Amino acid sequence: MKKTMIEVENLTKTYSSGEKTISVLSGIRFAVEEGQMVALLGPSGSGKTTLLHLMGLVDVPTSGTIRLNGQDLSAVGTNQEELRRNLVGYVFQHFHLLPQFSSLDNVCVPQIPLKRASQVEAVAKELLERVGLAERLHHLPSELSGGEQQRVAIARSLINSPKILLCDEPTGNLDSQTRDSIIDLLCELKKEENLTIVIATHDPEVASRCDMQMEIRSGNLSSSVVLP
Ligand SMILES: Nc1ncnc2c1ncn2[C@@H]1O[C@H](COP(=O)(O)OP(=O)(O)OP(=O)(O)O)[C@@H](O)[C@H]1O
Ligand SMILES: [Mg+2]
Repeated sequence: MKKTMIEVENLTKTYSSGEKTISVLSGIRFAVEEGQMVALLGPSGSGKTTLLHLMGLVDVPTSGTIRLNGQDLSAVGTNQEELRRNLVGYVFQHFHLLPQFSSLDNVCVPQIPLKRASQVEAVAKELLERVGLAERLHHLPSELSGGEQQRVAIARSLINSPKILLCDEPTGNLDSQTRDSIIDLLCELKKEENLTIVIATHDPEVASRCDMQMEIRSGNLSSSVVLP
């Protein structure tokens, strides 16, 4: 039997600013099995990034439960850092690369403190090669195109060999050929490492490569399985 890697129940998220409150997620539930690749769809402002932030321990829910690999995120206490480091890889919508670090160093950052620097660097190089950046190892983010920065962010999300990968519009700045190669890479990782992947995307082509599509509309979630 397949293991459930992500379980979300009655999840709500409300933002307040001043007197105003915005209800973004109003009681959503879903489950993702290990090794599945899921597309998270929905119009701009519907709550895709919000949901990924909650699953990636970047922010906390207003109410509800999220279990990753069987662990309730509200009950992990001081192990949060450990989970963020070893269980979940995250590709941010706006990359968040460190401007003063080269591509190679940015990919190594999640491994700091570097106990085995040369080994970490070798893995980082391999990942950058896999995303097509073998010739850009020593460039700073300011010397890279938007799509190249995005690929560095993808390589960085994989350095700790996560079980779950959360990607916020990972192909948003890429041409169709590079986009396809990134999706091919994610499909390979899914197969080879049994990685569970959630991808927020506006791109129907990316969504069609996923095993399941979920759509957020007015705070609620609808899902459909993509048949082969
Ligand atoms: N920190 C915050 N404080 C107040 N409101 C917020 C905050 N973060 C997000 N929101 C609001 O929550 C809603 C959902 O935002 P979110 O970034 O999750 O949307 P999204 O689906 O990722 O959109 P996009 O496709 O444009 O990236 C938006 O209306 C946004 O204005
Ligand atoms: Mg977003």
